[in-house]
Amino acid sequence: MIQSKQFPSDFTWGVATSAFQIEGAAAEDGKGPSIWDTFCALPGTIKDGSDGLVACDHYHRYADDVALIAALGIEAYRFSVAWPRVQPDGKGDWNEAGFAFYDRLLAALEAKGIAAHLTLYHWDLPQALQDAGGWLNRETAQHFAAYAREVARRFGARCASIATHNEPWCTANLGYGNAQFAPGVVDAKQAIQVSHHLLLSHGLAMQAMRAVGASAELGIVLNMWTADPATGSEADVAAAELEYARSVQWFMDPIFKGRYPALALRAHGENAPVIHDGDLAIIHQPIDFLGCNYYFRAWCSTSEPPLPAPAPHGITDMGWEIYPDGLPALLVKLNAEYALPPIYITENGMANPDQVVDGKVADSARIAFVASHLAGLRQAMDQGVDVRGYFLWSLLDNFEWNSGYAKRFGIVHVDYATQERTLKDSALWYRDFLAARWEA
Ligand code: FCB
Repeated sequence: MIQSKQFPSDFTWGVATSAFQIEGAAAEDGKGPSIWDTFCALPGTIKDGSDGLVACDHYHRYADDVALIAALGIEAYRFSVAWPRVQPDGKGDWNEAGFAFYDRLLAALEAKGIAAHLTLYHWDLPQALQDAGGWLNRETAQHFAAYAREVARRFGARCASIATHNEPWCTANLGYGNAQFAPGVVDAKQAIQVSHHLLLSHGLAMQAMRAVGASAELGIVLNMWTADPATGSEADVAAAELEYARSVQWFMDPIFKGRYPALALRAHGENAPVIHDGDLAIIHQPIDFLGCNYYFRAWCSTSEPPLPAPAPHGITDMGWEIYPDGLPALLVKLNAEYALPPIYITENGMANPDQVVDGKVADSARIAFVASHLAGLRQAMDQGVDVRGYFLWSLLDNFEWNSGYAKRFGIVHVDYATQERTLKDSALWYRDFLAARWEA
């Protein structure tokens, strides 16, 4: 099995979470509602009918949760700031009580020597901005930049990194394409326009954070996959190329090349976004790091019915194919196509139907998942990809968006009735894996 000693001694090892998925305290200390609060309240949106009102109660239990991270010997923590907690309307007044929470969280991390990796937008847009058009309204990008500037001004020196967006593909395509996510719109044209505004907001936020001299590394987190054709047929190969262009290159090309990929633009036809002069120059500017979230590959079949992915390593509780080879394949491909900054794997992990039995959670499938992906990561590094860190998704079982609490991604089990945390076997494995770095 892969060993931590096979990685550089200064490699960043972390765990990841996001605000809406763990914090709870949805209306406490002046927090405004987010689009996810609104979305959860609509019937039929969340599979188990749940919401984020309490979640893991991390807002009140953050100190214990940070102590847990420290006890496992994990040295980096990726979390997000809930925009409506620090700016309830998404513009105008700041909520000092909201900032005070993140100040306490950062202090707790600092006290344990855990590096803070902050994400500005992990999907919880202030509802007030949604009421004004959300990400379809170009002005939201300006409001986002003002928010980024303020967070960077206050916390920029206390964070190892700040990412603008988490997985803008999801915000655009699941939020506006198929209504799986908030705000629950089904409109292909809107989804594409939203993706442009998200990229624009990334560029504006980068400029705003640079202007206040934030010392943290600044970048963005994208979810990415390789797209593999199910067969060698011309149609499957073309479908895979188009899928890769529409999902990966759609976000990577503007950031790294200053243009949208021609293949995807053509395919979008009349749905192509309205782009103002200068937008692409704003989007195309240096970033200090690229965050890559990797869970599965895209399997592209044009047969009727489509051919299923072969899944030799099985599928997870989400129904996602386990495909560790896709991680090095993706990273090596990206490294050949783009002039990449240092890469962090900002999310990787799996949902498993975990249960506590006699105080233990035997999640050997998750251990195998993480170890095989780390082996894949090592292969990518051997092929010249500059990877600086790995964040396991997730520290805690949490609110898995439209799946509610039914899907468990944590290395720590959460009993939602009591909020009791139980270390799963994977947490103990990760602890031992990391501790082995210092063994002679
Ligand atoms: C990613 C999200 C994260 C979590 C994992 C399972 O797409 O960024 O919040 O839901 O998937």
